Amino acid sequence: MMRAVRLVFLGPPGAGKGTQAQILLERFGLRQIATGDILRANVARGTELGRKAKAYMDSGDLVPDDVIIGMMEAELTAGAESGAFVESFVLDGFPRTVRQAEALDALLARLHLPLTAVLLFDADRDALIERLTGRWTNPRTGRTYHVAFNPPNVVGIDDEDGGPLVQRPDDTRAVVVDRLSTYDTKTAPLVEYYTRLRMLKRIDGLQPIDAVTAAVLAALDGTDEAA
Ligand code: AP5
Repeated sequence: MMRAVRLVFLGPPGAGKGTQAQILLERFGLRQIATGDILRANVARGTELGRKAKAYMDSGDLVPDDVIIGMMEAELTAGAESGAFVESFVLDGFPRTVRQAEALDALLARLHLPLTAVLLFDADRDALIERLTGRWTNPRTGRTYHVAFNPPNVVGIDDEDGGPLVQRPDDTRAVVVDRLSTYDTKTAPLVEYYTRLRMLKRIDGLQPIDAVTAAVLAALDGTDEAA
């Protein structure tokens, strides 16, 4: 994949958005901009943004639109102005409401950075719950593993930086169920939104990780050259 691509990864928690974004980063240097990772870093640093976001994240609800839109405008504008990722990026976990999608459209139009495609990952509920409750994460890089499906070489240790892996506080079964229902009510309407714009491509997220990557690359082969 040598050309510029600007993507949105859409889909319920656990569908594999972060896993595939990391693979595209490793293989093609495609920058991953993950709202969840940015928020968790702010919670860890105790910033004002982190303090605003924490209670929503802990309960499986969405952080308010105004907070997220402000955060992403700052992120994308700074990146565009510095030339850091004008060419290619993956938005992982944003937008998550129709209001966020409208704000993103307006922002990207202003920056002359049109989206290439929106990839919708999906898997059934039982699989999503199993994936999230078995996930281990490197809190420093956002890299994820799974106890059964994608285990690290040494239990509890990141293959890359050798540091400890942790379970996210919102990956308990109770919070996962709330996150899935938040997705259904607030984020699923984006499927229709992007279908209407003819941007949506569906990826079967139930397949093994390698097969999902192949499906992503096949979907991108079918997109027009980004401007
Ligand atoms: P965020 O961090 O974005 O969480 P999420 O959307 O719930 O997504 P996940 O990271 O849980 O799932 P994923 O699809 O990336 O799955 P992964 O690849 O890791 O958001 C957290 C919170 O922040 C939100 O609840 C909200 O409060 C807030 N927030 C974030 N963005 C926001 C926004 N825009 N607006 C408002 N609030 C926002 O895979 C999961 C597991 O499965 C891993 O263990 C992985 O190894 C395994 N796996 C992956 N693919 C496969 C496969 N094909 N087969 C088998 N196992 C697999």
